[in-house]
Amino acid sequence: MAEKKSGERPHDPQFPEKFLEFMRSGWGSLELEASPLPQAAYTARRREALSAAFPGETIVVPTGEEKVRANDTFFRFRAGSDFAWLTGDLDPEGVLVLHPVASGHEAVLYRRGRAGTESDEFFRSAKYGELWIGRKHSLAEAETRLGVVCRDVETLDEALAGADRSKTRLLRSFHTSLDRRFEAEEPEKDEDGNPKPTRDRQLAAVLSELRLKKDAWELEQLQEAVDATVRGFEDVARILPAAGSVSERLIEGVFGARARLEGNGLGYDSIVGAGAHATTLHWTTNDGRTKTGELLLMDMGVENRNLYTADITRTIPVDGRFTRLQRQVYEIVHASQQAGMDVIRPGVEFQEIHRTCMRVLAEGLDDLGVLPVSVDEAMSKDSLVYRRWTLHGFGHMLGLDVHDCAASRPEQYYRGKVEEDHVLTVEPGLYFQANDELVPAELRGVGIRIEDDVRVTADGCQNLSEALPRDADEVETWLAEQREAGPRLADQS
Ligand code: GLY
Ligand code: MN
Ligand code: MN
Repeated sequence: MAEKKSGERPHDPQFPEKFLEFMRSGWGSLELEASPLPQAAYTARRREALSAAFPGETIVVPTGEEKVRANDTFFRFRAGSDFAWLTGDLDPEGVLVLHPVASGHEAVLYRRGRAGTESDEFFRSAKYGELWIGRKHSLAEAETRLGVVCRDVETLDEALAGADRSKTRLLRSFHTSLDRRFEAEEPEKDEDGNPKPTRDRQLAAVLSELRLKKDAWELEQLQEAVDATVRGFEDVARILPAAGSVSERLIEGVFGARARLEGNGLGYDSIVGAGAHATTLHWTTNDGRTKTGELLLMDMGVENRNLYTADITRTIPVDGRFTRLQRQVYEIVHASQQAGMDVIRPGVEFQEIHRTCMRVLAEGLDDLGVLPVSVDEAMSKDSLVYRRWTLHGFGHMLGLDVHDCAASRPEQYYRGKVEEDHVLTVEPGLYFQANDELVPAELRGVGIRIEDDVRVTADGCQNLSEALPRDADEVETWLAEQREAGPRLADQS
């Protein structure tokens, strides 16, 4: 056990009472700025939308707590996405409860009170004490910032004492004792015997679906994350030698510096695939090196300070020029991506975007001479052989999570239609594994993906990441310009 409630840890010395008395006194107040956050007006509207979905019911949305890494050290906390979306609160241990009242719901955020200088926790607790972790907001300050009633989380049990399970919905898997307190329900079966979503599952789905359409503040956040990511790609291009070699880890680290400097960190572990590593979709081992004549695939995204993430991939020729074959494959992927972007507009089916991108890839595979059957046959539902080299879908929703809104019902997402202010990635790729005996030797080990982040507009889509070139010639020019500019300190943006 890392720490007792008092804040003592097993290896702490037995402090003499004289020392404890001394530490309890003589501390002045430390002021902390607490003004309303710009997103507070938006979070209030989001809570209203959630309230309207479940009239008369108690809704419980926890954020989770810090996870132990080892002994008394923790992984850096990252707030639950639904909780952050509803409150703007990024601290651990909070629980948002919408209590039903006659007019709808009363929203109360139960969070940790401040372990101020009046408590022994202040100087004894490495987890909570302000002497260890710095000044935290008081409940009153949090209320001012977030624009929601805040109460001490110690009163949560009492506040939920009368909650009827059949009229309570919990966002599960964030809070062990709440998961126990409100046991998972057995799913009912539909007429075909398939399990129906439980009430808690319905809550997760509604939250996910409410997050599909981004509001004006969220769109700003996403653009900020994308812009920082563009700068991160530039930082990397500036330290890549055309001749010679750098390690994938250095590239990961340079991008990570930008992510931490401008944002909260990474939206997901960076995928840095030099040469044949590019054909491994989730190559995060990153222990290879760039090599002249080969390609380098980088899939990286900054998560901004409000937890919105970008998700961008570029595949570049290490020595600055695509070979003829690399360019041919690149241009197939680029054409596929552009075709996908060209069909995106409100009302188009998610699957239509997929089919559009995949058809261009299948035609390209045919041109390369690797398809064993006709394009139409390869695309037919009972074949799909082209997928050996395309591997994944065209893209996904993007927002607080890299794979955003994933709990949505299929008919609202990948079996549904896109709408204005959905934000999604468009990221086709072609991947020829190093040991693929069904393709010509010169294609083996080539992996190319191009990934951009787009907002659906009233009549099309806007590429949020257009500042990073995609066209093969423009990629070469961009790389040359970055190299010419040379390395920059990460904070000289
Ligand atoms: N970076 C993960 C993805 O592109 O979906
Ligand atoms: Mn993606
Ligand atoms: Mn990606």
